[in-house]
Amino acid sequence: MTMTKERLLSRLKEAGGNWISGEVISEELGISRSAIWKQIGKLREDGYLIESSSRKGYILRKVSDALLPGEIRQGLRTQIFGQREIVYFQETDSTNIQAKNLAAEGAGEGTLVIAEKQIAGKGRKGRVWFSPVGNGIYVSLIVRPTLPPAEAAKMMLMTAVAVAEAVVSVAPLNVRIKWPNDILVNEKKMAGILTEISTDMDAVDYMIIGLGLNVNTPAGEFPPEIRTLATSLRAETGRTFSRAAVLRAVLQSFETHYDRFMTAGFEPILEKWKAYADIIGRKIRVDMIGRSITGDVLEVDRDGVLVIQDDEGKIHKIVSGDVNLL
Ligand code: BTN
Repeated sequence: MTMTKERLLSRLKEAGGNWISGEVISEELGISRSAIWKQIGKLREDGYLIESSSRKGYILRKVSDALLPGEIRQGLRTQIFGQREIVYFQETDSTNIQAKNLAAEGAGEGTLVIAEKQIAGKGRKGRVWFSPVGNGIYVSLIVRPTLPPAEAAKMMLMTAVAVAEAVVSVAPLNVRIKWPNDILVNEKKMAGILTEISTDMDAVDYMIIGLGLNVNTPAGEFPPEIRTLATSLRAETGRTFSRAAVLRAVLQSFETHYDRFMTAGFEPILEKWKAYADIIGRKIRVDMIGRSITGDVLEVDRDGVLVIQDDEGKIHKIVSGDVNLL
């Protein structure tokens, strides 16, 4: 957002639902009446509902529903995530692809890529992530943790805990994590996380943490093939949410958990993950590329690896796969 547009928007917000005259704005912001008119037009294009009257001036009736950087930052309690560069697309192929390109060019930790709509949203295992305009959050964060590549799986579990806690903070739902990082409510998926990693010798160079979170999608608007599997905050609570407020909760929770992970290590996060996952002792089938294993879950070990014992008593350590509870 240009400086003038941002200042004008702040001024309209400060007016707190009252009219403010063009003359006052012009004086306070040091811009001409025609410049104000031009910027009002741009704010309307961004989705802000602004009424104007030749006698009374301007009034902000409704803030934009778009996930605009200015809306996200309003009241955001983080130091890094959401405070650094935010790259905003009305439409893109995939925020993970965009974030990866930026990271490869050197974009720093905390860079956030947002899209209102993805036309090639990526899910795990080459699947497509349903990414229609308006109702969901599709974001990718660039992180540059000081970690050996072998520990990257911990970041996935940490992100799942962060998202689960963010969801609980906006709606008191019974959230579960399905290994490694699907976020479920009532056995249906509300959010998915796709982590992509680039390593540099024996250290992580960057990770892209992509999050798709179904916020205001009505239950009946999921495509038929995922209707019985997917859910949204709205479908579970019967009310709609400000996507900016939900994203703020995610960013705050992510930063808290990331800081804790970097300073206090993984153990406390793993404990929380286990409490959300409720998977230990359960019989599962894990589908991996080209094979499946059925067995009882013995534990999720200190590296975030799933340990299961099959019916012959053989132990398997699984880093990546799709879990089905039996
Ligand atoms: C999954 O299959 O569970 C992971 C889904 C991840 C979807 C998000 S939406 C934002 C980001 N960009 C993508 O292309 N994918 C992730």
